[in-house]
Amino acid sequence: MRVAVLREAVAGERRVALAPEHVARLTKAGHVLQVERGAGDAAGFDDAAYAAAGGAVRDAGGALAQAEVVAMVQRPSDAQADALPAGALLVALLAPHRHRTLLERLAARGVRALAMERVPRSTRAQAMDALSSQATLAGYKAVLLGAAALPRILPMMTTAAGTLAPARTFVVGAGVAGLQAIATARRLGAVVSAFDVRPVVKEQVQSLGASFVEIPAVAAEAAGGYARELGASEQERVLAAVSAHVKDMDLVITTALIPGRPAPRLITTAAIRAMRAGSVIVDLAAEAGGNCEPTRAGETVVEAGVQIIGAVNLPSTLPLHASQLYGRNVTNLLLHLGGEDGVLRADRADEIAGPMFVVDGGEVLF
Ligand code: NAI
Repeated sequence: MRVAVLREAVAGERRVALAPEHVARLTKAGHVLQVERGAGDAAGFDDAAYAAAGGAVRDAGGALAQAEVVAMVQRPSDAQADALPAGALLVALLAPHRHRTLLERLAARGVRALAMERVPRSTRAQAMDALSSQATLAGYKAVLLGAAALPRILPMMTTAAGTLAPARTFVVGAGVAGLQAIATARRLGAVVSAFDVRPVVKEQVQSLGASFVEIPAVAAEAAGGYARELGASEQERVLAAVSAHVKDMDLVITTALIPGRPAPRLITTAAIRAMRAGSVIVDLAAEAGGNCEPTRAGETVVEAGVQIIGAVNLPSTLPLHASQLYGRNVTNLLLHLGGEDGVLRADRADEIAGPMFVVDGGEVLF
């Protein structure tokens, strides 16, 4: 397989699709790796490290020459899309619901595309699950951002001058990011509570040392283990219970998402006004519209003295580890697609690649 690694085009993106360690692993497996000059700079991997790992470092045109697979973290720019070789397989976090025009552009060029967001959540595909690997880092970083913005510390601290009470932290949405946020906040000594519409997570929340906020008659697990959107009366109950709970919180981390839908609105402006000034909310759902009414993606809004941080692309702020994990996900996928003989077989009937296809045969597939 000839695999190209391109520089990222999305503004502010610091991750790279494959790190030198992954280039070495794929090269050892017999594949040819072509890396665009400077692709790993922002993540801390220089061209010399890629060359030492067996990659051919080239300009963009050289990297793409005869490439069968093009690996990126996020979507290509229009110019990059237009330079992809016809028939090549693009593998990236393409946010397909938000970038249909780009997908149509790729389809028109005869490029095939796999969205890394659509790796099946199965045991077999776990090592390729980029949503999980990146969400884990986002959950961790959200707590650090919140802690740094608070006017208080997270742990209880007993000093000669007296005792400081621990921060009360509430995590809304206990999926991959939320569970990591709970674990991180606990390690920092906060008192943590959490809520999710999927009742199965209650035990996971409790096993991390947090309490689970029960909201009667709300259970919204859909097929595939994801949450479904709430009905009107469920939504009302959730809003009321969450409002009552957040007013006593110092730090709130919101992570609630429904795949392919706008983020559920869980914290109203009125609820935020009832919180103490100085409290902080980190909204990890900002890019999908936000879990809080005042959230603005990429900005910090202040409402009645409460900061609402509209966190965007936190994994990119940890580019070294985020690239190491994402690169492992991509490498495992490529080794799966290469099979025993190393010949690329990306087939829509494949149990893992099949559901990931968003462009194939000149068509956008969803
Ligand atoms: P996600 O990023 O789609 O959503 C985050 C969380 O928000 C979820 O826990 C969801 O239930 C929750 N949520 C949605 N609407 C909500 C609302 N109105 N109020 C409160 N919470 C709300 O979820 P993520 O982290 O991608 O995980 C989704 C599922 O996939 C989970 O069941 C997880 O355990 C499972 N999973 C399975 C894997 C595997 O088997 N390989 C790997 C990773 C995740």
